[in-house]
Amino acid sequence: MRLILLGPPGSGKGTQGDLLVGRYGLPRISTGDMLREAASEGSELGIKAKQYMDAGELVPDELVFGIVRERLSRVDAGNGFFLDGFPRNTAQAEELDVVFAEIGHEIEAAVLLDVPREEVLRRLTGRRMCPVCHTAYHMVYHQPANDCVCDHDGAKLSQRDDDSEEVVSERLRVYEEQTKPLVDYYKSRGILVKIDGTGPVEEIFDRITKAL
Ligand code: AP5
Repeated sequence: MRLILLGPPGSGKGTQGDLLVGRYGLPRISTGDMLREAASEGSELGIKAKQYMDAGELVPDELVFGIVRERLSRVDAGNGFFLDGFPRNTAQAEELDVVFAEIGHEIEAAVLLDVPREEVLRRLTGRRMCPVCHTAYHMVYHQPANDCVCDHDGAKLSQRDDDSEEVVSERLRVYEEQTKPLVDYYKSRGILVKIDGTGPVEEIFDRITKAL
């Protein structure tokens, strides 16, 4: 299974992606997680990427292509994967087509999580992350069992640097301008699966698995 998870910031790509990992045993490949990891390691790529991420802008394509190509070539991606946060503009979608042509596979579906703006704003401003396993919590919708620590590893939860109201507005603007055109890109190829991304997490997951 080779899927793309599409949708605005906060639409639940990571949350649903993790559930898909649990169900199908394939990796979730998140460019956002990989870039944040590079930033926390202080690598040259990470330092460059962080400037764009903190401003809510897309990291330049040439920086992202390398890490995606490398990640897709790893053994665990051989049987399939869930791409979260890539592609993010038409140039990235075209690059992905080239990669798939090279490895002789096709993207089976692009799953669009449809969530209104007011809801994504609520979700992002209340989100807290585990810095170790990257699990996303929410201070109202998905609270950890113990105050502000991860249920899985006990790490202290923190807010993402780009989840401030100002940066979230910019991320949503960038989504509308650069990423939303991919909806038509995949629709025209007959592989777009549009899912109502509102309601309880488990119900959304059920909609996705039924649609797939
Ligand atoms: P990235 O990390 O990809 O962020 P994003 O796409 O903006 O998406 P988010 O991770 O914010 O949200 P999500 O849809 O995964 O929602 P989640 O499940 O966490 O990218 C960050 C930055 O990296 C970009 O701005 C860019 O700078 C850079 N970047 C990344 N990829 C790039 C690329 N390809 N090219 C260039 N630059 C790139 O859920 C959100 C919250 O809602 C959580 O708190 C969760 O618990 C809660 N929640 C989830 N589902 C529900 C529900 N059904 N009901 C209530 N709450 C819910």
